[in-house]
Order: sequence, then C-alpha cells, then structure tokens
Amino acid sequence: MRIRPATPEDLPSISAIYDEQVAHGIATFDVEPPPPAYWAARLASAEPGDHVLVAEADGAVLGYAYSSSYRPRPAYARTRESSVYLAPAAQGRGVGRQLYDALLDLLRADGVHLVVAVVAQPNPASAALHRACGFASVGVLPEVGFKLGRWIDTELFALRLR
Ligand SMILES: CC(C)(COP(=O)(O)OP(=O)(O)OC[C@H]1O[C@@H](n2cnc3c(N)ncnc32)[C@H](O)[C@@H]1OP(=O)(O)O)[C@@H](O)C(=O)NCCC(=O)NCCS
Repeated sequence: MRIRPATPEDLPSISAIYDEQVAHGIATFDVEPPPPAYWAARLASAEPGDHVLVAEADGAVLGYAYSSSYRPRPAYARTRESSVYLAPAAQGRGVGRQLYDALLDLLRADGVHLVVAVVAQPNPASAALHRACGFASVGVLPEVGFKLGRWIDTELFALRLR
C-alpha cells in the first residue's frame, strides 16, 4: 500500500467511498452525493494546508484523507479541518492511521497551527484514530444534526501542531 496525493483519476473512487456514507452513514451530514465539481474543486485548491491524499493498493483506492479551510474568514487561515474515509473492506487495518500521519506531516510543513476534526457520534473508530494521532476532544455539540431519522451529536477534536 502507498499513500500519495490524489489525482483527477482518483475522484470517482473517492466519491464512491464518500457517497456510501452520504446514503447509509452519519460520518458526513451530506444527504445527497456532491457533484463531481465538488471533488474537483477540493483537488484544485492551491490554498496552503489544503491536501487530498489517497491510500492505494494494487491499483485500487482504499481510502482518502483531506484537509481544507475550517472557516473562510482570514483569521482562521492557519487552521485546517481534516477528515478521512475508507472503503469498508479497508477499515481496521491501520490505513486510516497511515493516511492521517502523512496528512499531518504535510500540515506541519505548511505551517498550519491547529487541525480540527468534527466527528459525528457514535464513531469509536474515528475517535480512537484522532486520539491516537494526538488530537484531544474539546467538546460535544449536542443534537446538532438530524439524519437517518435521528438527532446526532458531533464531537470536536483539535490538534495543535506548533
Ligand atoms: C474512521 C476510520 C477512518 C478509521 O480508520 P481505520 O483504518 O479503520 O483505523 P486504524 O486501523 O488506522 O486505527 C486507528 C486507531 O483506531 C483504533 N480503532 C480502529 N477501529 C476501531 C474501532 N472500531 N473501535 C475502537 N477503536 C478502533 C485502532 O486500534 C487504532 O488505535 P491505536 O493506534 O491506539 O491502536 C475508518 O474506520 C473509516 O473510514 N470509517 C468510515 C468513515 C468515517 O467514519 N470517517 C471518519 C469521519 S470523522
């Protein structure tokens, strides 16, 4: 397996992994698959601290991690929001950890100060991954989302890089 920057050819695999969570999971609060332009824009971003990485094995994309603007206002410029999604068969084998370690290395090199992750609850695998990578839980937003017929909390994780 190798971790590398995503290319336009990876976008159908990336969106297929994401769309599964859109339809059946709570990892994202999207309820409709985003259009291809959404992923193309993520990949095309030249903002410092914006990255899309994939984990690939035998020519197949196992999962991806990305970082992007936390909020658009200028004072947030050195904060990034991160996320990571794997295909179901790739979960629980250390792939998420390798993707996140590579992403965090890039963010350190970019001079990013704080990384924020928003984890819809419950998600023990994601909470464990973030803690293992050094993130601390900094609070819960109760019932901030409604999806699949129920109210969902999000737990905020933060990692100060510098
Ligand atoms: C969350 C996700 C990215 C984790 O990646 P992963 O490759 O499965 O996790 P890893 O195997 O790298 O494990 C990372 C850590 O989490 C722990 N972990 C993994 N799965 C776990 C589970 N189901 N319950 C508890 N801990 C778990 C591992 O033991 C490891 O901790 P350690 O380093 O202290 O031993 C992956 O499960 C996934 O893609 N889930 C669906 C999408 C999603 O929820 N994305 C997160 C959005 S916030």
